[in-house]
Amino acid sequence: MPEIHVVQKHNRHLYERYFDPYFQLRHDIYVKQRKWMALDRPDGREIDQFDTDHAVYLFCFDEGQLIGAMRALPTLSPTLLSDIFPYLSMRGPIRRHDVYELSRVFVIPERRGEHAGPRVETLLLTAITEYGVSIGLTSFSIVLESWWLPRFERCGWKAHPLGLPRMMDDMAVLAVMVDCNEATWRSLCRQIGRTGPILTWQGLSGVNRQLLPDISPLHSPTVQPAQ
Ligand code: COA
Repeated sequence: MPEIHVVQKHNRHLYERYFDPYFQLRHDIYVKQRKWMALDRPDGREIDQFDTDHAVYLFCFDEGQLIGAMRALPTLSPTLLSDIFPYLSMRGPIRRHDVYELSRVFVIPERRGEHAGPRVETLLLTAITEYGVSIGLTSFSIVLESWWLPRFERCGWKAHPLGLPRMMDDMAVLAVMVDCNEATWRSLCRQIGRTGPILTWQGLSGVNRQLLPDISPLHSPTVQPAQ
């Protein structure tokens, strides 16, 4: 089973060697494959103004290889919604301590659409939900292409639109809020066949977080048979 690590400013030094390949992968995926040419840079790395000390990354590794990732930004700091796509939110920018914005989710092409085990993408959604619940988030904001909505629906993520979709490069793009709570996390754990937390918090013992429970049926309260 792949491992998913939380990486942020306090433990980034432990993962420094992965950052250059990570930004190269983002360039390959978003610029070369997806043709998001606004993100192009001559050095072949896709790095934007939100890759700062505020960013939190989930890195998914399998046998030491980075096979997928996701980025989370506190909404009290600048986000894609506040600085690039403010017109997608009818309520104005989201700036809340209990909401992080998600972006740059990807799985390397060779590991997409897997059916032998849980999809790497579902592992990442489970992991970010675990991260959110652990640090007390109640929602994620996301600027996304509309094809994500049925996928979220299928995995039990409840998405609430913040405004009307806009066509961009022939694609309907909108901003949503997604609920982040323990019930969603438990449901995702069941979908991926796990009975407890999956995140690795290497070097982050100083982070104030709630420890999530084992949800194995063996640890459920005993049900007494009716007399
Ligand atoms: N436009 C429309 N649909 C898309 C899509 C796109 N750009 N990318 C994926 N999908 C749909 C596929 O059509 C497919 O649907 P199907 O299974 O009904 O045929 C489904 O999503 C599965 O996609 P696939 O890529 O085969 O596998 P996955 O579920 O393991 O991975 C992603 C999904 C999004 C993680 C992966 O496609 C990826 O990394 N894409 C590049 C990065 C990206 O575009 N991220 C989103 C913006 S940040």
